[in-house]
Amino acid sequence: MKLDSSISAIVTGGASGLGAATVKALRDLGVKVAIFDFNPETGQAKAAELGAVFCQVDVNDEAAVEAGFAQARAANGQERILVACAGGSRPTGVSGGKTVSRDRETGALVRHSTDIFERVLRLNTVGTFRCITNAAAGMMGLDPLDSDGLRGAIVATGSVAAQDGQIGQVAYSAAKAAIAGMTLTIARDLSSEGIRINTILPGIMATPPMLSMKERNLKVWEGLNASVPFPRRLGKPEEFADLALTMLRNDYFNGQVVRLDGAIRMPPR
Ligand SMILES: NC(=O)c1ccc[n+]([C@@H]2O[C@H](COP(=O)([O-])OP(=O)(O)OC[C@H]3O[C@@H](n4cnc5c(N)ncnc54)[C@H](O)[C@@H]3O)[C@@H](O)[C@H]2O)c1
Repeated sequence: MKLDSSISAIVTGGASGLGAATVKALRDLGVKVAIFDFNPETGQAKAAELGAVFCQVDVNDEAAVEAGFAQARAANGQERILVACAGGSRPTGVSGGKTVSRDRETGALVRHSTDIFERVLRLNTVGTFRCITNAAAGMMGLDPLDSDGLRGAIVATGSVAAQDGQIGQVAYSAAKAAIAGMTLTIARDLSSEGIRINTILPGIMATPPMLSMKERNLKVWEGLNASVPFPRRLGKPEEFADLALTMLRNDYFNGQVVRLDGAIRMPPR
């Protein structure tokens, strides 16, 4: 797909980190972009900075997502691109925990909270899927762009935790593995409509959740950087955006799940 001002895109989680870098990369090429984010302050500010439209959307909320798509389409026209970045490892203020653990003091057995497991899956897997079905349904109303029949392209965001989830990450690794797992199926489901989808599995990326580690614990931060074989640093959000743009541009890129990780393989803990 040729990326220019004739194309409209939606980026979820576009107010920060990997999503914001993708918004910038698309805007630099003239693509019309709508940011979906549940944070109105950062969302408005990022939209104003990059010349995008802001739609306050919680991807957990069916009605809010539908309203966001309607708002984005009214402003920018029907999107041909969805980049789904909204997600995260756990609800705010909640720690991970093993599948079943022993209380350090009493030895009592503690089962992982099913509620937290469900919430992490709902945000990452269901939230991503909800945006994909909305976007694909809209794209299906568009005329194809070329003789291949291309109508649109989608990039989803998993994590290397989909493949090497660490101790205490069971909900997150399950949620991201589900995104990886549905990628080929969705590519096949939408193949007759000319809509492509690929998923990126980022390693450790230098975005606000990770950058806050630098202030909290410099030693851990340095350890994180040193754990990456090469380059010996965290990934840049622009490097994520660069791969997302390649997946959008290259029409033979379809149904793929690609690690972007400096060759890191996460250890058990
Ligand atoms: N940073 C990393 O090291 C890393 C590694 C692997 C995967 N990821 C994944 O990349 C994606 C982006 O992460 P990031 O590091 O850029 O984080 P970030 O916190 O910088 O950005 C995430 C954005 O998503 C928004 N968001 C969160 N929940 C939302 C919801 N329910 N509805 C709408 N918006 C919501 C946040 O407000 C925020 O603006 C996430 O899916 C994350 O799991 C990140």
